[in-house]
Amino acid sequence: MNNKIQILKDKIEEAHLGGGQARIDSQHKKGKLTARERIHFLMDEGSFEEIGMLVTHRSTDFGMEREKYLGDGVITGYGTVNGRLTYVFSQDFTVFGGSLSETHAEKICKIMDMAMKNGAPIIGLNDSGGARIQEGVVSLGGYADIFYRNVQASGVVPQFSAIMGPCAGGAVYSPAITDFILMVENTSYMFVTGPNVVKTVTHEEVSSEELGGASTHATKSGVTHFACANEIDAINHVKKLLSYVPQNCEETPPAIAYDLGNEERAGLNELLPSNANQPYDIREVIAQVADDDSFMEVHAAYAENIVVGFARLAGLSIGVVANQPAYLAGVLDNNASVKAARFVRFCDCFNIPLLVFEDVPGFLPGTDQEWNGIINNGAKLLYAFSEATVPRITVITRKAYGGAYDVMNSKHIGADMNYAWPSAEIAVMGAKGAAEIIFKREITAAENPEEKWLEKEKLYSDIFANPYRAAERGFVDEVIEPSKTREKLIKAFKMLENKVVNTPRKKHGNIPL
Ligand code: HXC
Repeated sequence: MNNKIQILKDKIEEAHLGGGQARIDSQHKKGKLTARERIHFLMDEGSFEEIGMLVTHRSTDFGMEREKYLGDGVITGYGTVNGRLTYVFSQDFTVFGGSLSETHAEKICKIMDMAMKNGAPIIGLNDSGGARIQEGVVSLGGYADIFYRNVQASGVVPQFSAIMGPCAGGAVYSPAITDFILMVENTSYMFVTGPNVVKTVTHEEVSSEELGGASTHATKSGVTHFACANEIDAINHVKKLLSYVPQNCEETPPAIAYDLGNEERAGLNELLPSNANQPYDIREVIAQVADDDSFMEVHAAYAENIVVGFARLAGLSIGVVANQPAYLAGVLDNNASVKAARFVRFCDCFNIPLLVFEDVPGFLPGTDQEWNGIINNGAKLLYAFSEATVPRITVITRKAYGGAYDVMNSKHIGADMNYAWPSAEIAVMGAKGAAEIIFKREITAAENPEEKWLEKEKLYSDIFANPYRAAERGFVDEVIEPSKTREKLIKAFKMLENKVVNTPRKKHGNIPL
């Protein structure tokens, strides 16, 4: 028996070395952690249980039968993160560049299937040269097996992808289907075709970093939700994200115990500028309303005219969607609509109540917006809110104009509670533009058209630049002092905690993509 145990120990030691010490050193020299080190930092101490450590590839072409590594380039298993069951796969760049073989894919699929059966999140730590070139189509098949499972798992268990190295070609589509992508500055990149192919086809000269680095995807494409300073930062972001979400779609998110005290926030009464056309940072409102330091912004550097993220309210995990008057006056455009729609759908999948702060002058006009499909993209946000069955509350802080009033979680599309601050202005459009259209004849006929215009602007503004017309109709449930916002929201979300909505029977809706 002792001999046999020694054989096992030798194998474990061999597996732990992956592609060998030289390649581990080379990984470290690039400023990257190894696949095992990443798992070590992610999982609770001593909780990780590896599955499939001794798996090897089955390939025989190109002399591959002579080059085998235990584990075949991916470490898979389960453990706990902050005490909660989590499945993980971590690609090992030291083994064939972390490339995906048939067996490498089988290992990932195995833990995805287990995560689905047992209802727990799946974390992918990606660091791979893509399809195992020596294996040809079986590798492509392996990718498709993963993509298929990503789709089946979507909305059932949370799926996060941390990109810790290369992620190129069709390989990008697994992370793209998952709920959140995190990238590491300077050491990770994602693209469908790399700089060489780009140069051949379009004659553009571009570096990997510029084409598909973390900053590019965090600001230009929106592909990544987080650009992290280093791998540890990325892993900490994954842990924090997990703290806001439930294990699966049948559960509610974990709440933190909270004793109610004085929930008044006097500072909110002073926060808005006296001139309604001046900007303010909606994050300051979120910070005062949410539990201290609980706001975790998602997609912070992309479509900054809308702010989305997770927060806590008296310990309850909530999703926040807020127009940002400090950026493009908080207007809704293509990118902001899609960003918010995807976030709303994630929250709804996983029973995370939604809180909306509204201060929106409308949709952004222009050929760029129209030609890039603001009709479809704005409809995505409208659709996402309308189909969401989680508790939904809106606070109109200032402007709620035009179609954007309807779209931003209005009462009409199913919001449960709609509050407005006394500073709210709820109308078809701003008073200046409105006066120009409906009093056009009077203004042009006037002796002093400018003066007439101002007079009519004031008239329109007196009637609509307030929340009371909407409150009279019940479109706004209550006009509240800003300082009372937090306590009102705590009570209302508590009141809504057992909300049930029966939706019409259908296969699935057809969101305008
Ligand atoms: C097999 C691979 C590999 C791959 C890298 N390696 N990529 N082995 N299949 N796809 C091996 C290398 O041979 C090398 O082995 C080791 O991994 C490290 O690679 P290096 O090139 O030395 O590392 P580096 O300089 O850091 O460059 C990393 C890289 C580069 C940029 C990822 O290796 C590269 O361009 N690889 C090919 C990428 C690619 O074209 N993949 C297919 C994409 S198409 P040794 O023995 O020297 O350590 C695709 C389709 C998916 O993925 C479709 C899904 C639908």
